[in-house]
Amino acid sequence: MRYKEFHQEVKMWVFEEIVEGRNLTELINEKHENVKYLPGFTIPENVKAFSDLSEVVRDATVLVFCIPHQFVPKTCDQLKGKINPKAKAISLVKGFETDEKGIRPISHAISESLNISVCSLSGANIANEIAEEHFSETTIGYNYLAEGELFKKLFETKYFRVGIINDVVGVELCGALKNVIAIGAGFVDGLKLGENAKAAIIRIGFLEMKQFMKKFYGGIKDETFFESCGIADVIATCYGGRNRKVAESFVTTGKSFDQLEEELLHGQKLQGTLTVKEIHRVLSNKGINDEFKLFTTIYRIAFEGLPPKSIVENID
Ligand code: 13P
Repeated sequence: MRYKEFHQEVKMWVFEEIVEGRNLTELINEKHENVKYLPGFTIPENVKAFSDLSEVVRDATVLVFCIPHQFVPKTCDQLKGKINPKAKAISLVKGFETDEKGIRPISHAISESLNISVCSLSGANIANEIAEEHFSETTIGYNYLAEGELFKKLFETKYFRVGIINDVVGVELCGALKNVIAIGAGFVDGLKLGENAKAAIIRIGFLEMKQFMKKFYGGIKDETFFESCGIADVIATCYGGRNRKVAESFVTTGKSFDQLEEELLHGQKLQGTLTVKEIHRVLSNKGINDEFKLFTTIYRIAFEGLPPKSIVENID
């Protein structure tokens, strides 16, 4: 145990399912491995899996949200009235919600639902590389410096370097939007257009990501885009992420994203495709699709049958 102020045991809520005829939580606790979602990597023995959400949060003073963004509202509903009112939370969720006015960051959804303060964490963090203890950086966004420092202390290791910045929403929105750029990068890979074309999509995507965030959310800091959660995560995800991989197969196989998600991700959920649809809805509501040509083209290729090669034809 590195710090006395943190509990030794980490309780991890796992959505229960049957794997190899057994409960996944039992398998995780027995083998210290998530045999379904991260096979081949050892989970430390102080991490215990539970299927009962109430049990996990009962005595918790720190809550780490790490679930697909479509499950956030239901999970928060289940947590209402069950958490310590002084608990500090951090969201690793990659996504946002939408409403008629625009977007609602997940940190706000959690904070408003549970009446707690929420930080965000996002960065160039491909999960299995972290599990292998290869060096990486990440970014924590905070509203209160003391909370940013607390979470830095909790998460940082020799191989996982944490930067902190006073920009909760900037950090989390970068984490959501970079997945859309990675889908564009995957199309380019599927078309075998080479590294110059991919670099162009990354550059234009990065600019649209910045433009989108600033348009829909005041107060996002320019510096955030140059932290790990910004440019570095765009690069990592466009080269090593699941969104890129599935988008490449979309082009080479002609199968739908839903089918490929089932075939290639073994139960994991792709976040980028949902975000592509959400961005399109928000832009269409405002009638400003033309201001975001790359994001709009990615939507139309993914869901409206536009030929994938439009990725390099429909952009300025
Ligand atoms: P995906 O694997 O979901 O595409 O994203 C990877 C990632 O978030 C790297 O930071």
